[in-house]
Amino acid sequence: MKTLNVDLGERSYPIYIGQKLLSQAELLTRHIAGKQALIVTNETVAPLYLEKVAAMLPASIQHHAVILPDGEKYKNLDVLNKIYDALLTHAFDRSVTLIALGGGVIGDMCGFAAATYQRGVNFIQIPTTLLSQVDSSVGGKTGVNHALGKNMIGAFHQPQCVIADTDTLNTLENKELSAGIAEVIKYGILGDEKFFQWLEINVEKILSRDPATLAYAIERSCQNKADIVAADETESGQRALLNLGHTFGHAIETSVGYGGWLHGEAVGTGMLMAADLSARMGWLNKTDVDKIRHLIKRANLPLRPPQNLNKADFLALMLRDKKSLGGVIRLVLLKKLGHAIISDNYSTEQLHATLDHFLGEEI
Ligand code: NAD
Ligand code: GLY
Repeated sequence: MKTLNVDLGERSYPIYIGQKLLSQAELLTRHIAGKQALIVTNETVAPLYLEKVAAMLPASIQHHAVILPDGEKYKNLDVLNKIYDALLTHAFDRSVTLIALGGGVIGDMCGFAAATYQRGVNFIQIPTTLLSQVDSSVGGKTGVNHALGKNMIGAFHQPQCVIADTDTLNTLENKELSAGIAEVIKYGILGDEKFFQWLEINVEKILSRDPATLAYAIERSCQNKADIVAADETESGQRALLNLGHTFGHAIETSVGYGGWLHGEAVGTGMLMAADLSARMGWLNKTDVDKIRHLIKRANLPLRPPQNLNKADFLALMLRDKKSLGGVIRLVLLKKLGHAIISDNYSTEQLHATLDHFLGEEI
């Protein structure tokens, strides 16, 4: 097992990464301060891992589970209420610890319930998708979607620990694995060129779920994320770089309807769009755009948005991004491979050219 630390002063916490971690009860129990716990999971993950996680809790901890419907389309305030219902039904008090068992949807919802139940209780992340192990379980962003915009309602709330058992990835569908690889590639593109080069060599081994290669990809991604979060917990600056591809990607996700495209798929295509715009600005060179496209393609991710999207609608969705300020879309763009910046210093014509290129008939 590898242990990384997210260094946030008194809110610091460990990320445990390795195999068979769900058989090590102590990893979980040492982070539960009170005598109450609620496991939050969904109807897909529950049959696979709920019993195992419940068995990690001793009888001295009163515990229950709430099983949510599965899917991005259920990441909303209505379904969130089911968590509050369970907490209140069992008369759980402020000493309760919530345990998020599932992918990023469950982690974000459980974390937001923990941030808001009785003005804030502890929670623990047990991420079970690659995407959630490398990204969403780390850093304390929690929340739900609104019909008009992705992740628009939320809070920063850090977990007590993250337990990433890589064995859980063996039951993940290939498409979900690829979606997770998009976020792994993101770290290489935005700030770790050596990692990008390592991925160019190893992406097929990740797809084949080679345990050592997967573990290294998760560790390196989490280390990148932990460093950025430690430097800028609430995104007043460089944390926004983690949003590479997301302004384009969230516009895709919202326009196709939540769940129509996987988050990671949208981020993969979004990163290509950001790379294209960066090249139009004379920053990223063509060879590196091609390298990025090739790696995303090898990860079995889509290379362009669906074809029926209207440019004006797409731009309106991009403007709704949380990074937008005063009616101006701020984007994460690439000075070069491994060097991302946040910028509104692009011309409208250049942005339109990128959208025409990706939303048009042919590429
Ligand atoms: P997800 O949570 O929907 O999980 C994907 C699918 O895999 C679901 O059907 C789920 O039930 C299933 N699943 C989960 N674990 C499994 C397992 N071990 N075996 C088999 N099936 C399993 O999607 P995701 O890709 O994990 O997360 C995407 C979400 O994360 C989005 O809502 C996105 O906005 C959010 N996100 C948040 C952050 C953050 O910092 N908080 C960062 C990135 C993404
Ligand atoms: N996934 C973006 C962030 O955590 O900031």
